[in-house]
Amino acid sequence: MRIVSGIQPTGNLHLGNYLGAIRNWVKMQDAAAAAGDDCLFFLADLHAITVYNDPAALASNIRQMAAALIACGIDPAKSILFRQAMVPAHAELCWLLNGTARIGWLNRMTQFKEKSGKNREGASVGLFAYPVLQAADVLLYNATHVPVGDDQKQHLELARDIAIKFNADYGVELFTLPDPYIGATAARIMSLRDGTAKMSKSDPSDMSRINLTDDADTVLQKVRKAKTDPEPLPSEPAGLEGRPEAKNLVGIFAALSDGTSEQVLARFAGQGFGAFKPALAELMVETLGPIKARLDDLGRDPAALDVILANGAERAAAIAKPTLTAAYAALGL
Ligand code: ADP
Ligand code: NA
Repeated sequence: MRIVSGIQPTGNLHLGNYLGAIRNWVKMQDAAAAAGDDCLFFLADLHAITVYNDPAALASNIRQMAAALIACGIDPAKSILFRQAMVPAHAELCWLLNGTARIGWLNRMTQFKEKSGKNREGASVGLFAYPVLQAADVLLYNATHVPVGDDQKQHLELARDIAIKFNADYGVELFTLPDPYIGATAARIMSLRDGTAKMSKSDPSDMSRINLTDDADTVLQKVRKAKTDPEPLPSEPAGLEGRPEAKNLVGIFAALSDGTSEQVLARFAGQGFGAFKPALAELMVETLGPIKARLDDLGRDPAALDVILANGAERAAAIAKPTLTAAYAALGL
């Protein structure tokens, strides 16, 4: 089994990014390592440039994301961690596959329709061809399993269609057809100020989110000031309906303790937030404290991060090379 997954580089990482995305990678990595499977994780920095990004901000986000992944538990000894842009085979294979991908197939991609909106003519070619690069990302490594959320299932289908057509057109059995990998379901974490809005780096209020870089006092203060209601906690999750802030805090407690809302409520039923909040803050600090400490270490030693990314790129490129060479040859190049 070979798992390949990418994530767009983003800065100012918060608890939502950790519980909703990064932690699932760590779980996948650890399960794969135990089973003797391969994991390749990359920062999708070539995908990031399909819309305009300020270059200095992008460079900073790439480093922040790489550091956060390592701090959160992506272990270069267990996984191959690299940046897409540092392995030119991604861009090369994408171009080779552009001869096989059909405009009609890409026209059906709902994500492009959503992202381009009414301004289809003004969207970049890169945004349109985005799923072809995704196909290259996984076909390059003969990925067998690709973790996908609902919004990405269509792109994985497209990668399979491209692989099937390429293999058939050129009479080769080059590309492995990747299957979706269903890992742990991702938590969805809401704002601490508004239980109906997603926790996000774009929220202007820093009190709305717990950043991975927040120290213990800040976490404590943010949790203490988190919006709640005056009712005590119910004994069943059904009692949280219509109470989005309470539901969110219980959900965060459950995610951090790797349990369920039922288990959290069994412990706190009948208690008010005066009792629940300090326990939640303590749990956050327990999880985020070591992450922040590793982030601080990596921040003090940027060269160490460069070495990790360079090694990852080298290992990824070595796996990609035979596939890329065979693709050129199949095409008569
Ligand atoms: P933001 O919303 O802060 O801009 P991004 O869009 O950069 O975050 O998301 C990066 C990753 O983190 C994505 O995989 C996304 O699904 C996940 N993520 C972001 N916010 C949350 C959240 N509030 N709850 C769960 N997952 C989240
Ligand atoms: Na976002």
